[in-house]
Amino acid sequence: MTVAPLHVVILAAGKGSRLHSDLPKVLHPVGGKPMLAHVIAQARALAPAALHLVIGHGADRVRAAFADVGDDVHWVVQHEQLGTGHAVAQALPAIPDAARVLVLCGDVPTAPAQALLPMLAARGLALLTAQLDDPSGYGRILRGSDGAVVGIVEHRDASPAQRAIGEINTGIVAAPASRLRDWVARLHCGNAGGEYYLTDVVALAVADGDAVTAVDAGDYRWFEGVNTRAQLAAAERRYQLAQADGLMAAGLGLADPARFDLRGTLSVGRDCWLDVGVIIEGEVKLGNEVRVGAYSVLRNVEVGDGVQIESHCVIDGAYIGAQATIGPFARLRPGAMLGQQVHIGNFVEIKKARLGDRSKAGHLAYLGDAQIGEDVNIGAGVITCNYDGVNKHSTVIGDRAFIGTDSQLVAPVRVGDDAYIAAGSTISRDAPAGALSICRAREQRVVPGWKRPQKSS
Ligand code: UD1
Ligand code: CA
Repeated sequence: MTVAPLHVVILAAGKGSRLHSDLPKVLHPVGGKPMLAHVIAQARALAPAALHLVIGHGADRVRAAFADVGDDVHWVVQHEQLGTGHAVAQALPAIPDAARVLVLCGDVPTAPAQALLPMLAARGLALLTAQLDDPSGYGRILRGSDGAVVGIVEHRDASPAQRAIGEINTGIVAAPASRLRDWVARLHCGNAGGEYYLTDVVALAVADGDAVTAVDAGDYRWFEGVNTRAQLAAAERRYQLAQADGLMAAGLGLADPARFDLRGTLSVGRDCWLDVGVIIEGEVKLGNEVRVGAYSVLRNVEVGDGVQIESHCVIDGAYIGAQATIGPFARLRPGAMLGQQVHIGNFVEIKKARLGDRSKAGHLAYLGDAQIGEDVNIGAGVITCNYDGVNKHSTVIGDRAFIGTDSQLVAPVRVGDDAYIAAGSTISRDAPAGALSICRAREQRVVPGWKRPQKSS
């Protein structure tokens, strides 16, 4: 027996009115990626011959968001959203009769591809169904007295007795292309929604005497559709808990998997530990024994062994050398490159700056466009004045330099090795190696008997 080629149709043309959003529904993110990206990944896991993406509402935005999706995807535009049956009909002309068609919904982002395999193996029409405690809103599966499936009734068309049925349609359907073509052409829209319902193909298949199989979805939660903001949040948490479970199984310590968010990829060494509320975005790599404090955000960061990041740090596009200590309340911006055992304390902002091994900036500093050597001490309140209003300029600081508190380094400027900058200096010319540079009002003036200002009445 030859196996029918698999063509997957993904329905993504709907507006998603129940989200009350200008963003097309399938672009709403789960785990930092549009819902549709998850559905495409599920489809690809089944190695289909082709993928057909039916878009309509916000089609240009959806297409733009997936500009580099790959050649296996055929875009199909459903100009008017006349229902799920009509949506499938738009894709069918490009699908050969010999194919088996699997219909996925762009708003079901967490369906595990593995659970779809029985749908491909079944003969005739297959529907993925589930038993729910609260089935409201879903299409209900109608069965005859012998238990065989006879049709699906949508919630809004259902009688009170039908609404009491707990078995629902997940929206995922598979069928031979030739039969589906025939059924879809016979759909009509005389229902409460005034739409061509894909679900009506079930009754047609039964009438034609085709095999109809209901495949049990098992753990239903994975197939829950996203129609509302609450369902979107539920899908997000499901997805996050699954990622957290996977990472913990691989050895990552999490204070609370329910308060962990990964919107990208995270690779970890041994014995890393993340406190509550940590958010990881983009590509993040942690070495061994890295600890990240509560509510820190790491985006595109590489972190060496033994690094301690305290709470409330925002770290983006940075490299952090081994044994460094960061925060609390530190901000590392793109191009921050920290050597080993560097210490960055509270309210320090670093942008496009390299700090050599063991250098320290403990409090309240801005270091931008700078090259800073090893064993340098940056005092509280030090600022690199890197911007003249038009151009950025760089500051170079040699090894073992000491930059006294509240000093400004007006770039472009160089501070030599072992140089000492006195507190409160505004350094606008190069500070030579090994010398003290001081630049402040020479004498401290004392005014005896000075009267404090009085509050005017
Ligand atoms: C649908 C099913 C329902 C099932 C539920 C499961 C139908 C008629 N109903 O209802 O039985 O229980 O999914 O989640 O199929 N879409 C288009 N073009 C259209 C209309 C919809 O592409 O003209 C897309 C939507 O973008 C969405 C998917 O089809 O991705 C499902 O449509 P939606 O309106 O969400 O259907 P439900 O009311 O959830
Ligand atoms: Ca839906």
